[in-house]
Amino acid sequence: MDKLIIEGPNKLSGSVKISRAKNAYLPILAAVLLNDKPVHLKNLPELRDIRTMLTLLQNLGVRVDQKENVTTLDPSNISNHLATYELVKTMRASIFVLGPLLARIGKARVSLPGGCAIGTRPIDIHLDNLEKMGAEIVIENGYVEATKRNLKAVHLPLKFPSVGATENLMMAAVFTPGTTVIENSAREPEIVDLANFINAMGGKVVGAGTSKIEITGVNELKEVEYEAIGDRIEAATYVMAGLMTNSEITVEGIKPQHLEFVLDTLRSMGANLEDGENSIHVKPSQLKPAKIETQPYPGFPTDIQAQMMALCCTIPGHSIITEAIFENRFMHVPELSRLGAKIDLKGNSAFIEGSEQLSGAPVMCTDLRASAALVVAAVAAKGKSEIRRIYHLDRGYERLDQKLAGLGVKVQRVNENM
Ligand code: UD1
Repeated sequence: MDKLIIEGPNKLSGSVKISRAKNAYLPILAAVLLNDKPVHLKNLPELRDIRTMLTLLQNLGVRVDQKENVTTLDPSNISNHLATYELVKTMRASIFVLGPLLARIGKARVSLPGGCAIGTRPIDIHLDNLEKMGAEIVIENGYVEATKRNLKAVHLPLKFPSVGATENLMMAAVFTPGTTVIENSAREPEIVDLANFINAMGGKVVGAGTSKIEITGVNELKEVEYEAIGDRIEAATYVMAGLMTNSEITVEGIKPQHLEFVLDTLRSMGANLEDGENSIHVKPSQLKPAKIETQPYPGFPTDIQAQMMALCCTIPGHSIITEAIFENRFMHVPELSRLGAKIDLKGNSAFIEGSEQLSGAPVMCTDLRASAALVVAAVAAKGKSEIRRIYHLDRGYERLDQKLAGLGVKVQRVNENM
């Protein structure tokens, strides 16, 4: 197992290229199952979650071929409909295969994902609405068994705008005759990207990006080449690192409008940020404390809460961060405290008393975004930090140590036993 050793404080400079979004490519990879013709995906990020999804697709019968930066998937021969516990337990997004398998072959057997580090994370919105579409759902021996090919076009008002449920239902409806309507749908840029991908294959999805998505059934799909959007969460993480170290850097390969709420919040705190068409330029800034609450898009993303907390720890004064999406997403707090942060937790709010300088320490990663917060904090902290269990980071941050080193950070990736 590897660990990161970061020596700080660092001054960053230059530019960093953001990878294509993991959270866009995971549902897009699942949507490949809808097609019976080849799909060519450009610049899939080298990440553990993406490899897990490719393994799952291969288990289902999809042929995968990699040539330079293009991954060709041939889903013409789906020979299996099982997503095993072994795979699903390592990546909840495996549940995305439920909708497309139902639509394509009329059956799916997918392990229940169970809880995870950040909360119980039920999938009732996925299952209840698939039932409303006419699917028969049985839960047995820890597996969801879903059957029925000819789904009905119905109205599906979601009780909460779940990202994953919106994506699963959108995929399930691609061949359903008539128009399926998802109301109170999630509006994240990754939802729009999935709709664009389905439409590029010949599907008919309108309204993605609003809270009402309409999917009109088509009979077949076609061969397509596609490239997903840039990773807004990765981009925001580097923006935080730039601000925390009072540095001037450019974050490239990201549409600033996908981070509008975050960038507006940072500007209201005094951040000196310039939007390019496909980049964000970060300049040295004097920041004020903040009061933030996570919300579904277009609100402040829960996936940037931990990194934002790390930033607030370095701003003198009192900040408050409230987590309103997940029930247990403060695993980074005790670890940030080891780096000298002063944070009080009350219910789902964190009260932060910021100070200008954190100090390096050994810390442990607990989940993906919590780990990113520890990394940016270590980059800014004075002294040496050792960040252990970085397999969490490898799920979602492509070449993190190399990208940080490219910005001038003193970072090494070494075996944990060294
Ligand atoms: C996706 C993202 C994840 C992000 C989250 C919220 C991917 C692969 N993952 O996760 O990085 O943190 O959106 O922006 O895109 N819920 C239910 N029942 C359901 C589904 C969800 O109660 O059937 C609850 C969850 O427990 C959670 C909230 O709704 O409290 C949001 O979950 P959801 O939007 O579904 O997140 P994911 O799609 O799992």
